[in-house]
Amino acid sequence: MYKKLAKLSEVKEGLIKVVDTKYASIGITKIGEKIVAFEDVCTHDGEAISHGKIESGCIICPRHFAKFELSSGKALCMPATEDLTTYQTRISGEDIEVEIED
Ligand code: FES
Repeated sequence: MYKKLAKLSEVKEGLIKVVDTKYASIGITKIGEKIVAFEDVCTHDGEAISHGKIESGCIICPRHFAKFELSSGKALCMPATEDLTTYQTRISGEDIEVEIED
């Protein structure tokens, strides 16, 4: 089910808005015109990936520097071997909605 998690005006390219939900902390950012959402947990060892550096559509974990593609969650280098959990997003008026469990 899609849930409203942010306003479009709150999400900017190069910055991550973190929203705590009942199930997970979810990072939301903008890559070009696309809004992406992902669980704020590095799959290597649990670091808050939102504290990482965004570079060319990817994020680099601040702890051991694993790199993930933000739009797909794909783990691009060691030490991470598992992809980030990502979520479908959609825009509804001025709101960003993310598909999460209810
Ligand atoms: S916790 Fe992210 S790379 Fe190790």
